[in-house]
Amino acid sequence: MEQQMERAGNFLPRVDDAAGSPNAVDRRVVSLTAPASGAAEQYRSLYYRLERMRELRPLRVVGVTSAMPGEGKTVTTVNLALAAARANPERRILLIDADLRRGQVAEVLGIKGRPGLSELLNGECEVRELVRRFHSTRMAVITAGSTPEEPTQALASGKMKQFLKVVREHFDEVYMDLPPTLPFADSAILGHQTDGLLMVVRANVTPAGAVNQAVEQLGGAPILGCVLNGAEMSDTPYLKNYVRK
Ligand SMILES: Nc1ncnc2c1ncn2[C@@H]1O[C@H](COP(=O)(O)OP(=O)(O)O)[C@@H](O)[C@H]1O
Ligand SMILES: [Mg+2]
Repeated sequence: MEQQMERAGNFLPRVDDAAGSPNAVDRRVVSLTAPASGAAEQYRSLYYRLERMRELRPLRVVGVTSAMPGEGKTVTTVNLALAAARANPERRILLIDADLRRGQVAEVLGIKGRPGLSELLNGECEVRELVRRFHSTRMAVITAGSTPEEPTQALASGKMKQFLKVVREHFDEVYMDLPPTLPFADSAILGHQTDGLLMVVRANVTPAGAVNQAVEQLGGAPILGCVLNGAEMSDTPYLKNYVRK
């Protein structure tokens, strides 16, 4: 695999996804569609919080999870990775959709979803076939691909470990969109392979008990903080991201 990655060079192949794109970028990808908006500013500010943390410890692979589906993991991860690519054009940024059950990165970005991570994990393709540059940005993307029969098993495999190891060597910052924590073991398994996790909490929706349970389920994986999604500008001492509805 290592050699194949080498051949993929800087991981930004010439193919530009814009050409084959069947759909438009979701308007909630504000880092791209409305970079001057307050919402995009919040993702930038989240990014700079991570940058400050990077002064204290390495944070190459950052995972984004939440207790339940629909709390804003995908929207957060995509915007965060785009904010990273804009803020530091000299760094190699990768967005990975590791939600093999309901991967939505491809849909949100309006790009084709296959082949994706699950095709790599079941041996149907090589890493170099997966990594695509997103439009004219400095962000590379790996989509989730088709849903495997045993998503947890696929993500827990040695192949996934190897994949992350290689990806660490070739990218400076990797943002991984994870499945929800409560219903599946996936995030706990992958969480331990990241350098840190962001826990998305949907304002006025996620019950506090669910957040506690999710943290427990993550079993000691490094949690960097919470991202409060969909909140009004207000309180909380956590690492947070306020995005108005
Ligand atoms: N801050 C927000 N404001 C408005 N809608 C949002 C916000 N965050 C997420 N959404 C919407 O909520 C839904 C779930 O978000 P998504 O990122 O797909 O959640 P998850 O990945 O956690 O399942 C999507 O329709 C998304 O567009
Ligand atoms: Mg999602």
